[in-house]
Amino acid sequence: MKILSNGHLWKHSEFIENKNFSFDKNKILNSLSAKDIDEAYSSISNWQGYSPTPLIELNKLSEELNLNKIFYKDESKRFDLKSFKALGGAYAVEKVSKDNKNIIVSTATAGNHGRSVAWGARRLGLGCKIFISEFVSDARGKAMTDLGADVIKVKGNYEKSLIECIKQSTENNWQIVQDVAWKDYIIVPKYTMAGYTVMMKEIVDQIDQNKISHIILQAGVGGMAGAMISGIARYLQNVPEIIIVEPDSAACVMESIKTGKIEKIDIKRESLMGGMSCGEVSLVPWEILKNAVKYCISLPDDDIAKTMKLLGNGNFSTKKIIAGENSAPGVISLIAS
Ligand SMILES: Cc1ncc(COP(=O)(O)O)c(C=O)c1O
Repeated sequence: MKILSNGHLWKHSEFIENKNFSFDKNKILNSLSAKDIDEAYSSISNWQGYSPTPLIELNKLSEELNLNKIFYKDESKRFDLKSFKALGGAYAVEKVSKDNKNIIVSTATAGNHGRSVAWGARRLGLGCKIFISEFVSDARGKAMTDLGADVIKVKGNYEKSLIECIKQSTENNWQIVQDVAWKDYIIVPKYTMAGYTVMMKEIVDQIDQNKISHIILQAGVGGMAGAMISGIARYLQNVPEIIIVEPDSAACVMESIKTGKIEKIDIKRESLMGGMSCGEVSLVPWEILKNAVKYCISLPDDDIAKTMKLLGNGNFSTKKIIAGENSAPGVISLIAS
């Protein structure tokens, strides 16, 4: 807990160190290969409208915390989707389609990944079927319909929507583009992660890579974090300390790191950090995270809205930042730990 000069008490719930820590570049690049990473960058950097997203210095926050420099990767500028997710699902759609314009892609989603798949399908002129659970809001569904996808609402939770997606896709020969891996479904989620590594390539082009001492990564199913760690293994000479941040109601990476094996969380309350409210770490990222992560931190929802406001008002940086509920936790964990 720490008090910033405006008198607010910042809170974290739990902070742990990984007793199985060891950063093995070769092992990481066995999970997501340098070839996959390089191919993703050369494809995506040639997409129409591509430009690297800004790396913004939180100059006011670093002064207050007495830290040398703090950077914030601003993904609100990522294509017209305004999310890093555009890199993953849409790239997987491109890889799966293999230039075949006649396929239909499908996915089950709580929202963000589905938007990326729908956006990627529209980019390539492909049909797209999105399965959502009855708990996904109409607004989220509409965001995907607006991108040209057929949105199918399924009774029950996310798992039910995935089962229905697999059933209908098998019957109709649609290509499933899921970001979560399971035993016999590994390649497509890897493409999604390869797409996310573009962020790390941009970062090494934006700052002196040897000066990165710590990197804080938010995790839901761990795909983004696993991808960024692969990017570190691919592009950085030095290895920064890697910290994973999660909602305390869905700290599935933290609980798995504690025991050294995948632990499933029974989510009792959905976090405000909606995209991170996931009960189980995905298989491919887990193989990377289990050793490469140095620390895990979990947060309550309490400071999310406030932090988004402070970022938006320019309290942490000269530049004002439009942050979502899932990007604020990185900043909170730095202040609160
Ligand atoms: C900003 C942000 N960070 C992290 C995540 C979690 O990503 P993953 O499920 O790949 O761990 C999300 C999910 O929506 C997100 O929006």
